[in-house]
Amino acid sequence: MNESNIRNFCIIAHIDHGKSTLADRLLEVTGTIEKRKMQAQILDSLELERERGITIKMAPVRMKYKEYELNLIDTPGHSDFGYEVSRALEAVEGAILLVDAAQGIQAQTLANFHSAEKAGLTIIGAVNKVDLVSTHEVDHLALELAHLIGCEPEGIYRVSGKTGKGVPELLEAVVLKIPAPKGVGHMKGVKGRALVFDSFYDNHKGVVASVRVFDGIFTDTDTVQLLETDTKVKMKELGYFAPKLTATDSLGEGETGYIATGIKDPGKIKIGDTLLALEPNATLPKGAALPGYKEPNPVIFVSFYPEESDDYEHLTRGLEKLKLNDSALTIEPDQNEVLGRGFKIGCLGKLHFEITAERLRREFGIGVVNTFPSVLYRVKNKDGSWMEIVKPEDLPAEYLEIQEPIISLELIVPTKHLSSVLSVQRKFRMNVLHTETMGERILMKAEMPLVELVSDFDDQLKSATEGYASFSYEIKGYERAEVVRVDLLVSGEPVAGLSRFFPKETMEREARKMVEKLKDLLPRQQYVQPVQASAAGRIVARADIKAMSKDVTGYLYGGDRTRKMKLWKKQKRGKERLKERSEATIPPSVFKELLKKE
Ligand code: GTP
Repeated sequence: MNESNIRNFCIIAHIDHGKSTLADRLLEVTGTIEKRKMQAQILDSLELERERGITIKMAPVRMKYKEYELNLIDTPGHSDFGYEVSRALEAVEGAILLVDAAQGIQAQTLANFHSAEKAGLTIIGAVNKVDLVSTHEVDHLALELAHLIGCEPEGIYRVSGKTGKGVPELLEAVVLKIPAPKGVGHMKGVKGRALVFDSFYDNHKGVVASVRVFDGIFTDTDTVQLLETDTKVKMKELGYFAPKLTATDSLGEGETGYIATGIKDPGKIKIGDTLLALEPNATLPKGAALPGYKEPNPVIFVSFYPEESDDYEHLTRGLEKLKLNDSALTIEPDQNEVLGRGFKIGCLGKLHFEITAERLRREFGIGVVNTFPSVLYRVKNKDGSWMEIVKPEDLPAEYLEIQEPIISLELIVPTKHLSSVLSVQRKFRMNVLHTETMGERILMKAEMPLVELVSDFDDQLKSATEGYASFSYEIKGYERAEVVRVDLLVSGEPVAGLSRFFPKETMEREARKMVEKLKDLLPRQQYVQPVQASAAGRIVARADIKAMSKDVTGYLYGGDRTRKMKLWKKQKRGKERLKERSEATIPPSVFKELLKKE
């Protein structure tokens, strides 16, 4: 295809503003998918995506429109998957910035807009769901959006992904306004050079790389190499997404498609790497790598253990398979005294971790118990060296300082909910740096430790504002953390896996809550079991689990006091022996419950 007839673009928006539905209409209008074969949100191919109505993975698709070849990448809207969006932005020249007419500009609208602007893309603004509100409201929003993008209000398109209204006009704008792809300049000796912007695994084709060709052409008989991992293979197939994989014989400059490598080890493909084919007898020229992007670093860590201990092998295979299609997931073996063997998982955020657990259950039938989600702490040792820890148990007895990851938050809050947000702010160590009025809403910039985000921040914000506040975040860096480690003890013995870091000021309250929870969950024994929380060498909370009362003298009538005394004494000795033997064993079921309640 002649490059001047190619348009590469993506749709970016806040979560649920209708990207996937608009993509459905584009597929229909261009005849890529027949109307009778259309399913709602067809690009969301994972069962979980369809059911929860969220896009988790980006999905590329090629459409034919008049004399043009359009390559669209649908992207996820949630902050956790901002990394997916950033990858999509590198592979296109333009973006449709979509805003729900009923919701208005939200935090992720701003975040995505700024990323697209930074990537130098042509941005087309569109108000979606115009079937839901009055023309007057649409006009008002179009004005706001034009102001954000820096264009005339007439340049904002008005569409409904539901009814299809305005979609043909938007499609016209894509071919007229978004520039044709530009190459990066041809390099001697190179036949084809492409950026790997995603990858997934296929049982027959091995690792399949989603690519954008920036230089030259690839043909289906090429031997290709991956620069970063220095891997050379004869490709198995190449093609494009329609949206199903459709093989062709070549992929030329400016095009988006896939290259099936046949590689069985997904570690050999790094997202952001350059895939390259050389001319016969040519050697690899210097500086052939395209500007890539950094691999994402996991920020939330959690350990997964199989609910049934004999499911360990099954869990291992399930995680390996998930990892094949989710390059952001990190997996390491882990061990817990009560729950047995499991894995420490690194995720991009809380939603990412919840989705991983859910996919294990649905796609592989494995139930998992997880530890408290944690973050990566930096600890300065006595000798001045630094170490990184995830589990509070790994904190050395003596240290100089703990640092924790901090996020920059951007919230958009309707003015009438401002006071509720301020009450959430107090609970979550959120530091508001700046506020600014945006019509009837307030844009708030703040900082907060990442770990607060894991502990229910989003749910509490949602319920405090009836779902009307939105936020986006990015990791800012590390700062000194005024936290202490709290350990839980049962009958004086520490319980592995239940230690946590809490801020100094709320530590006692949190410790009491944990102690009460554990007290309620543990089964009674024939003796009293103290449940304690200790921090910095002192007990900060305690609750006793009462002994099971068993009336050993019940069968004795009347007042044979000496006989009763003898039996009570015997019972007491028996309990002491029992207590020595049992050494605070926690049944796995209790452990599971305690962790699940989080
Ligand atoms: P994420 O991928 O999770 O960020 O969502 P999304 O932006 O892809 O949104 P999606 O297409 O899943 O739509 C969200 C909801 O809005 C769905 O219930 C759609 O049916 C509905 N919706 C989308 N477009 C329109 C529209 O134009 N009008 C109306 N009334 N509803 C719409």
